[in-house]
Amino acid sequence: NPTLSITLFGITFKNPVWVASGTFGYGLEAREIYDVSKLGAVVTKGISLRPRLGNEPPRIVETPCGMLNSIGLQNPGVEKFLKELYPEIEKIDTHFIANVFGETEEEYVEVCLALEDAPKIVAYELNVSCPNVKKGGIVFGHDPAVLGNLVENTKKRIKKPLLVKLSPNVTDVTEFAKVCIDSGADGLVLINTLLGMRINIYKERPELSTKTGGLSGPAILPIAVRMIWQTYERYGSAVPIIGVGGITTHEDALEHIYAGASAVQVGTANFYDPLSPLKVIEGIGSFMKEKNIEKFTQLVGRAHRLDI
Ligand code: DOR
Repeated sequence: NPTLSITLFGITFKNPVWVASGTFGYGLEAREIYDVSKLGAVVTKGISLRPRLGNEPPRIVETPCGMLNSIGLQNPGVEKFLKELYPEIEKIDTHFIANVFGETEEEYVEVCLALEDAPKIVAYELNVSCPNVKKGGIVFGHDPAVLGNLVENTKKRIKKPLLVKLSPNVTDVTEFAKVCIDSGADGLVLINTLLGMRINIYKERPELSTKTGGLSGPAILPIAVRMIWQTYERYGSAVPIIGVGGITTHEDALEHIYAGASAVQVGTANFYDPLSPLKVIEGIGSFMKEKNIEKFTQLVGRAHRLDI
C-alpha cells in the first residue's frame, strides 16, 4: 500500500490533506460527523491577541462557482482559545496549525508567543492575506518590505515553524514568495481568497455589508494552481508550498500537487460536503495505488518533470 505520510519542516504528518483556516473552526464540531484524527492536520480559524466580533452581517453570499465571505476574523482571542478550546483540541490525535492574525507586527508575535508552550500547535500560519479587515491582513501581505519585516521579526522570536499564507490579490505572487523565503519562512501557503463582490439587483445594493469579500471555492482553483506552479518553478527547492484554493475532489488536490504543492488544504468544500477531506485522502491513496506510486512525494511537482 502506498504511504501518504510526509515530513515537512521537521514535522511528520499522517497525510498531506489538511483543512483550511476558517472553514473548520477549531476542529471540534466535525467530531460529531467523523474521526477528525484522520486528517493530516487542522488549521484553526485566525487567532488574534484580543477577541474580535468580526464584520456586520450579511457577511456570506454564495455564487454558482463558490462563495464570498467578509467575516472579518471573528474569534475569541488567544487567551480564551487556550483556556476553553485548547483542552478539547488536545484530545484529537492529529496536528494543529494556528492561523495567526495581528493588527500590528507586535500583535502577530505576541499571539505566536502565547502559543509556544501548547504542544498540539505544531506550526503557525501567518495570515497576511485576509481581504476583509482594515488593519492588518493584506496591509502586511501587499507590501514586500512590510511583509519581509514581519516574517523576519516573527521568525527570530519563535521556536515553531512559520508558514505564511499569501494573497492572490497581487500581480506577481513570486515576488512575495521570495521575500518570505529570504526572511526565514519555513513554508508558503497559497492562496487566501480573491477579492470579489456581488450585487443584489432587487435591493440595488451590494450583497455584503462590507461590499467586497473574499471569493473561495471552485472559481479560484485555476488561480491557485497557477500561483503554485509559478512559485514552485522559481522556489520549489527552497521551501514547501501548501496548496489551498478550490479543492473539492482528489483530482483537484492532485492538480495542486502536480503544480508543486507538498500538502493541500480543503476549505470551502467542507461547507458543501463535510466528508470531502476524507474523500480526498482516500482518492489520492487509490490514485497512487493505480499508478503504482509508492511515496506521496513522487507526486509533488510532477507536471514540471521533463523525464516523465
Ligand atoms: O477570506 C477570508 N476571510 N480570509 C481570511 O484570511 C479571513 C477571513 C475572514 O475572517 O474574513
